[in-house]
Amino acid sequence: MIRFAFMIQRIQDITKEVEQFIIETPESLELFRLQFLSRKGSISELFDTFKELPGIEKKDIGKPLNVLKALAEGKFNEHKESFENSVDDLSGKFDISLPVYQNQLGSFHPLKIVENELVEIFHSLGFDLAEGPEIEDDHHNFGALNFAEDHPARDMQDTFFIGEHVLRTHTSSVQIREMERNEPPFRLVMPGRVYRNEAVSSRSNCFFHQIEGLYVDKNVTFADLKQTLYYFVQQFFGEGTKIRFRSSYFPFTEPSAEMDIWAGTDTEENKRLTKGTGWLEVLGCGMVHPNVLKACNIDPEVYTGFAFGMGIDRITMLKYGIHDIRDLFVNDVRMLSQFRGI
Ligand code: PHE
Repeated sequence: MIRFAFMIQRIQDITKEVEQFIIETPESLELFRLQFLSRKGSISELFDTFKELPGIEKKDIGKPLNVLKALAEGKFNEHKESFENSVDDLSGKFDISLPVYQNQLGSFHPLKIVENELVEIFHSLGFDLAEGPEIEDDHHNFGALNFAEDHPARDMQDTFFIGEHVLRTHTSSVQIREMERNEPPFRLVMPGRVYRNEAVSSRSNCFFHQIEGLYVDKNVTFADLKQTLYYFVQQFFGEGTKIRFRSSYFPFTEPSAEMDIWAGTDTEENKRLTKGTGWLEVLGCGMVHPNVLKACNIDPEVYTGFAFGMGIDRITMLKYGIHDIRDLFVNDVRMLSQFRGI
């Protein structure tokens, strides 16, 4: 009788255990099998005891014991099947031969691609990178660059004023900021956006980009300027590209020059771009005016230097065959996505 009561209790306990056992993985399914259904499992043990019971007791124990066994086997089979099916499901639901979605890679803007290339070339000559603000004051944009208060050269760079401030008309203002802040020598390139009050057309915009160069040290000569720019042109426009210097005027350089590269007149396009001359204007340059050095507290008797400034937009258009400067600024992804991976 004690054994009988004990058996009933055990069956109830194990039933609870079976019900509460959580099977989430094939590993826990195997634990379940070992604990309850294997030869040494608790249900098998109950059956062993059951065999030794007197006939009369067997009758009352047999039924709940078989219910427990069916419960455990049922639970086992159900999970086993679902694990097996989940593997089948995967191959059924997903077509592993489908091509993957390509990640949509962005691209650098063509102006940035060219700017990076320019910076890189000058970097190889020892020029560091510097940047300055786009909203400037009269002093940095004009005054310290030797523009007299009422000099007509200011008219060449008509611009936008915001109260006391001015949207810089050129990156030359960064020369001043750097020279005011540090001691010579300077060997810098300074890229950035500039603004001018121009009528917008396919060739000119009210904002565009420049890269400024500045080299100030003892004994810097015009020959250094020519050699530096010659090296740059060979790197950027290709080995053997011819250059020429035409004298020019900027208040902040003396002597001043414009540098052209030979594009040729072979194609209609080249004739159009060069107005029939074959020469393409690329940049303005010259020896830093003594007044500019003085304005930055640098002794022009000790130091000399050269500076140059070129438009990034023009040469970007040239490089990629872009005919309208405005295409650079409408941000049409159909245009921009062509530069992926460059
Ligand atoms: N700042 C001049 C311009 O925008 C270019 C220039 C830079 C000329 C440096 C000489 C030296 O036209």
